[in-house]
Amino acid sequence: GVSARPFLPELSGSDTAGSIGRLRDAAAVCQGCDLHGPATQTVFGVGNPNAKLVLVGEQPGDREDLAGEPFVGPAGQLLRETLAEVGLDPAELYITNSVKHFKFKPTGKRRLHVKPAAREVAACRPWLEAELDVIRPKMVVALGATAAGVLLGPGFRLLKSRGQVQRSDHAKWTIATYHPSAILRVPNEQTRETMRRALLEDLHFAAEHYR
Ligand code: URA
Ligand code: SF4
Repeated sequence: GVSARPFLPELSGSDTAGSIGRLRDAAAVCQGCDLHGPATQTVFGVGNPNAKLVLVGEQPGDREDLAGEPFVGPAGQLLRETLAEVGLDPAELYITNSVKHFKFKPTGKRRLHVKPAAREVAACRPWLEAELDVIRPKMVVALGATAAGVLLGPGFRLLKSRGQVQRSDHAKWTIATYHPSAILRVPNEQTRETMRRALLEDLHFAAEHYR
C-alpha cells in the first residue's frame, strides 16, 4: 500500500539534530504516495530539534511548497503573530505538518489547496511519528482537524474538545486548536475574531505549560 515507511532511515544515537537532518534528507526523496509528483518539494519540519513544544499543521500550502518551509504564507503569518502575542519564539519550537507535500488543483494561474485524503495522511504519518520520536517534546499542539486526527485518533472532535489537554503516545500533553487557515477562511468577522481568540488562548496555555 501507500506509505512513507520504506523511505525512513534507521536512526541510532542521541544526536537529535543529526537524526532530524537524516529524516529531512530521506523525506526529500519520499515517494510514499502520489503527492510528491505534482508538488515542488518536500516541506519538512523546521526549528529546534530539542524543542519541548511542537506545533503540527495539516500540509504545506502554495507558498510553503515554493519556499520549502512550513507556515510561511498567510496562515503562517497569523500563526507567527499569535505566537508573538503569547511570547513564544518560533526558533525555540519545532513546527511541522501532518502531510509533507502540497496537494492542489491547478486552476488557471493559481494552485488551489485540496484537503489531503485519509490514505495520504496515513501514508505520510511515519514522518511525523519519527520527528516526534526523535524530539520527544513535552507538549504537542495540533493545529486543525487533520493533525488532531493523526495525533488523537479519528474519534477526536475538535469543536467539542478544542483546547483541552489530551493524553497521547507522542507527548505528556497534547492539545488541539483551530487551524489558522480555517480562521482566515471564515467570512463573518465576529466569528473569525472569536476563533482567533480561541487560538490565542490555546497557544497561551501552551506557552505557560510547555517547559
Ligand atoms: N497550513 C498548514 O497546515 N501548514 C503549512 O505549513 C501552511 C499552511
Ligand atoms: Fe511521502 Fe508524505 Fe510526500 Fe506522500 S506526502 S510522498 S508520504 S512525504
